[in-house]
Amino acid sequence: GFSWKLKDHPKLPKGKTVAVVVLDGWGEANPNEYNCIHVADTPTMDSLKKGAPERWRLVRAHGTAVGLPTDDDMGNSEVGHNALGAGRIYAQGAKLVDMALETGKIYEEEGFKYIKECFENGTLHFIGLLSDGGVHSRLDQLQLLLKGASERGAKRIRVHILTDGRDVLDGTSVGFVETLENDLAKLREKGVDARIASGGGRMYVTMDRYENDWDVVKRGWDAQVLGEAPHKFKSAVEAVKKLREIPNTNDQYLPPFVIVDDNGKAVGPIVDGDAVVTFNFRADRMVMIAKALEYKDFDKFDRVRFPKIHYAGMLQYDGELKLPSHYLVSPPVMERTSGEYLVHNGIRTFACSETVKFGHVTFFWNGNRSGYFNRELEEYVEIPSDSGITFNVQPKMKAIEIAEKARDAILSRKFDQVRVNLPNSDMVGHTGDIQATIVACKAADDAVKIILDAIEQVGGIYVVTADHGNAEDMVKRNKKGEPLLDKNGNIQILTSHTLQPVPIAIGGPGLAAGVRFRQDVPDGGLANVAATVMNLHGFEAPSDYEPTLIEVVDK
Ligand code: 3PG
Ligand code: CO
Repeated sequence: GFSWKLKDHPKLPKGKTVAVVVLDGWGEANPNEYNCIHVADTPTMDSLKKGAPERWRLVRAHGTAVGLPTDDDMGNSEVGHNALGAGRIYAQGAKLVDMALETGKIYEEEGFKYIKECFENGTLHFIGLLSDGGVHSRLDQLQLLLKGASERGAKRIRVHILTDGRDVLDGTSVGFVETLENDLAKLREKGVDARIASGGGRMYVTMDRYENDWDVVKRGWDAQVLGEAPHKFKSAVEAVKKLREIPNTNDQYLPPFVIVDDNGKAVGPIVDGDAVVTFNFRADRMVMIAKALEYKDFDKFDRVRFPKIHYAGMLQYDGELKLPSHYLVSPPVMERTSGEYLVHNGIRTFACSETVKFGHVTFFWNGNRSGYFNRELEEYVEIPSDSGITFNVQPKMKAIEIAEKARDAILSRKFDQVRVNLPNSDMVGHTGDIQATIVACKAADDAVKIILDAIEQVGGIYVVTADHGNAEDMVKRNKKGEPLLDKNGNIQILTSHTLQPVPIAIGGPGLAAGVRFRQDVPDGGLANVAATVMNLHGFEAPSDYEPTLIEVVDK
């Protein structure tokens, strides 16, 4: 029968403190002026790379290696941390939705049937991120859903768009809105009353995460549900073009707007009897709006009106909270993650990051599961992020505070595993501010040093890696790898993640002599890290985990 008990590793001892450090958005790429990690002063990470060739390597962090549909899909934190923690590769939300749409199964499931009940007398609303970034949502999936729902009886459709500029180039919002308008016009020709009803930039409207700033969700609620926003337009294309002209505004931060009719009345507030679908598949930035749409008791902001709707998520975003209770596609079931195994084997675990990445080293790491496995053995610490700013203004973020918490946890000797996420290179990389990203990379490097010093003091082991690339390449490139220029001859800044591999380094005084990276897993990816970490705790990994990256040679 099944047992949580892990076998002892034949060669590696137990009882070492293992620090697991994830640098968010820290990939490996050619050294050049757009590689902020290369330009930044990063002596600690450099020394890991130069110091021990047997204990530094690259691993894959994008595409099929992390369960995404294709190898053209860049990595992201959700799938990256899922792979790191679960030790296996699961078909991720993006792919599961593709398959459900392709087979038409999506229309046979409970979730679609539930929203369909409103098609006769109500409006069908879609809320989500409008781009082809493939991290949180995909335009082609929305297009298929619009078609599928209208063919199955939806007569009145309203789309509430969130502009991207973070997983795709800034400025692309205009084209995506034009494409959507075109599709909706075709639906109108077929007699479906289909329109864009509201919008706003993803970082300012709706898509906050980990309860960093409820005002973001409120701004969305006001526009989407109440039909109220500071900006009113007759057309969404005009809205996006005009709002982009506001100084210091970009796709990520467009203010909320509503589309109004000739009488100045909002065309698509959400009212009793309507159906609502949040069409993002990724969880972190949907949990807050899902709570607002679903929970009867809710005190995070004044909703003014709480419409009686049939609400479904594209996926269920939180399996533990069963949120939302209705969804179109079942999420990947990630069971027996490394965190759960280790806790069952007595490993005392400490995990820490700041708010904007806190769920990454806990919720995503544990297979999209919130809370503790065993409160007695685990401690999760969240350091409040600065809110209401873009992180290029504070590129050091809370890196040092996170590292100091980790250091204290290590020195306390109360934990066997001390796990952190250092957000800087990712969060600042997403702003597209190259100078600030260089500062961010240095800050992350400084934080790594603090943690490695503590590991040195207790005779422990470190594993330093990353979840995907970002700061190592800040420019959009052509197929030959040359920087692309815009109409004015300026380089096109890449705010998104990349397809690059990420480094992994192991070491520390507690690492047994003879431990080195194996040569026979050249394609190793993030999913191979869990087994590696289990080995460093003195255990063999379960047999269905992706193989460990390390071997022990006799010295
Ligand atoms: C975001 O949500 O900030 C980006 O779309 C992806 O970033 P992350 O995967 O690093 O969180
Ligand atoms: Co990111």
